[in-house]
Amino acid sequence: MEQILYISTVSPSEMVNLNAILAVARRNNSANDITGLLMFNGKRFLQVLEGPSEAIDATFERIRRDPRHRGQVLLARKTIPQREFGDWSMGFRDGAHEDGGAVYETICAKVADANPNLRAELTAFARQI
Ligand SMILES: Cc1cc2nc3c(=O)[nH]c(=O)nc-3n(C[C@H](O)[C@H](O)[C@H](O)COP(=O)(O)O)c2cc1C
Repeated sequence: MEQILYISTVSPSEMVNLNAILAVARRNNSANDITGLLMFNGKRFLQVLEGPSEAIDATFERIRRDPRHRGQVLLARKTIPQREFGDWSMGFRDGAHEDGGAVYETICAKVADANPNLRAELTAFARQI
């Protein structure tokens, strides 16, 4: 089981339809045995993907080529003994909702079991959006 973490920047010319991205991500990820988390702060994306190694490679290859974002930087890749986002085909957070506090709490709970470095990175990002 592999886990990757990357960040990217939304393409300036794109009117991003997050619902469309999420719908496709959730459909494909369920079919490919992939779980994870996507965060968006209006400018940057941060995504964690975990699942079988080949499925992660194929999925990240598609995501990399997606013109809706650019400057994709892989921050971490590691083998994990078990999933850290096991019940999310793709959890999501952005800054557009007033219930942000509750979602932030949910994310903190979700990442509580992640390794300390990853947890720090994710909660710092979540706090900012
Ligand atoms: C920020 C971002 C995150 C994405 N995350 C996923 C993902 O987790 N899984 C996925 O299959 N596609 C994801 N996509 C969409 C892919 O880039 C690609 O459009 C899609 O996988 C193509 O699927 P299709 O061939 O079934 O249309 C993401 C796109 C963006 C811009």
